[in-house]
Amino acid sequence: MKLSVIGCGYLGAVHAAAMARLGHTVVGVENDERRYEALSKGEVPFYEPGLPEMITAEIEAGRLTFTRDIADATDAEVHFVCVGTPQTPGRHAADMTYVNGAIDGLLPVLRPGAVVVGKSTVPVGTAAGIAERLDEHGTDVSLVWNPEFLREGFAVQDTLEPDRIVMGVGPGERGQQAGKVLQEVYADILDTGTPLVVTDFPTAELVKTAANAFLATKISFINAMAELCETTGGDVTKLSEALGHDARIGRRFLNSGIGFGGGCLPKDIRAFMARAGELGADQALTFLREVDAINLRRRDAAVGVVMAWLGGRVVGKRIAVLGAAFKPDSDDIRDSPALSIAEALHVRGADVVLHDPKALANARRKSPQLGYADTVEQAAHGADAVLVLTEWQQFRDLDPAVLGEIVAGKRVFDGRHALDPDRWRAAGWEYKTLGRPHA
Ligand code: UGA
Repeated sequence: MKLSVIGCGYLGAVHAAAMARLGHTVVGVENDERRYEALSKGEVPFYEPGLPEMITAEIEAGRLTFTRDIADATDAEVHFVCVGTPQTPGRHAADMTYVNGAIDGLLPVLRPGAVVVGKSTVPVGTAAGIAERLDEHGTDVSLVWNPEFLREGFAVQDTLEPDRIVMGVGPGERGQQAGKVLQEVYADILDTGTPLVVTDFPTAELVKTAANAFLATKISFINAMAELCETTGGDVTKLSEALGHDARIGRRFLNSGIGFGGGCLPKDIRAFMARAGELGADQALTFLREVDAINLRRRDAAVGVVMAWLGGRVVGKRIAVLGAAFKPDSDDIRDSPALSIAEALHVRGADVVLHDPKALANARRKSPQLGYADTVEQAAHGADAVLVLTEWQQFRDLDPAVLGEIVAGKRVFDGRHALDPDRWRAAGWEYKTLGRPHA
């Protein structure tokens, strides 16, 4: 089939390449000059394992092209809207500028019978508004809402082998028909037995925000338990292990530490609360305020532990921060707990030197006031404390004996329960973390 993908950021670039991989002819529409130039050459302006290879292969196979001109999407039978919905500066609500702009751009190029598929994460009620605009425009065009659940770092796999496909369709035969067209696009994926859930528009929109709200709640729940462990002498890692054996609870997303960040979970729970407020249903989501607060408190707790450790004052102390990305296998530093802790210690006068295997350039751009090092060793050289704040495998694998030779003080803070305390202590280090007072 002929498809277009409007907006080739994280979601769109992956989706465009994956749809080409399924055998469709795909044109990716990208306004941003730099991003367009990069993608056209098969370069990916962010770190995502496997994606550059897939884009290059699909461009070479002739199934994938990129353009800056939406008119090149005229031929497409299905248009995927994949633009971003960031947090509005100074407010909690989602910024809908890009979604509205994408629909404005699409209206003149839609041909009768085309299907528009919304994939962006949007406030509930958005799809109904877009469907109305399409109807008013007078073309026989239908809308399907098809949220995306991919994780950064696993984006290719999550798109080609999703754990479910959700399709919100409009009323009547026309809605069903549009859903069928999208099922045809995803036929190869559905044939492998991937569950398909067909809903109305609001339910499909809610599935996405509810899923992220649930994941955020699970993380904040275990981090609240970590706070209790700190006051009672319990061990949160054992608590996670024991809770996780209950199949109804499950072990995943029960990793405590410095909390969640990234371009999705934090902004999505805030936008969800803002939307519920607009709809007069704010009470239903008041608990998410607490989820957000617990999460942010963990960053303060980490700063507090390090400050107390270094005698209450960090002015002139050298602190090596290992990790800037919001999670490993990513170069994304949006709302990263690691970077926010590094910034907080810098503001308190510490001489912070940061290393990350992939996110250095992004971190440098966002926080030029911090010191940066190309290797762990350079960062740790002469440090009074080493903070592991993103659980990259290479940090887990560090040899405490070797690192111990180059630091000024053998103090390691483990913000993600990534290290083995016994191993570090055996090499002469003081080890501290959150939620495990006696670890
Ligand atoms: C998240 C969701 O997991 C995806 O399903 C969703 O599609 C995506 O948002 C989105 O809305 O686009 P992502 O932001 O890539 O994916 O990252 P996650 O793997 O969910 O991690 C989010 C944050 O939670 C990270 O900072 C991570 O370190 C933290 N986390 C995760 C914990 O602190 N503990 C855990 O147990 C798991």
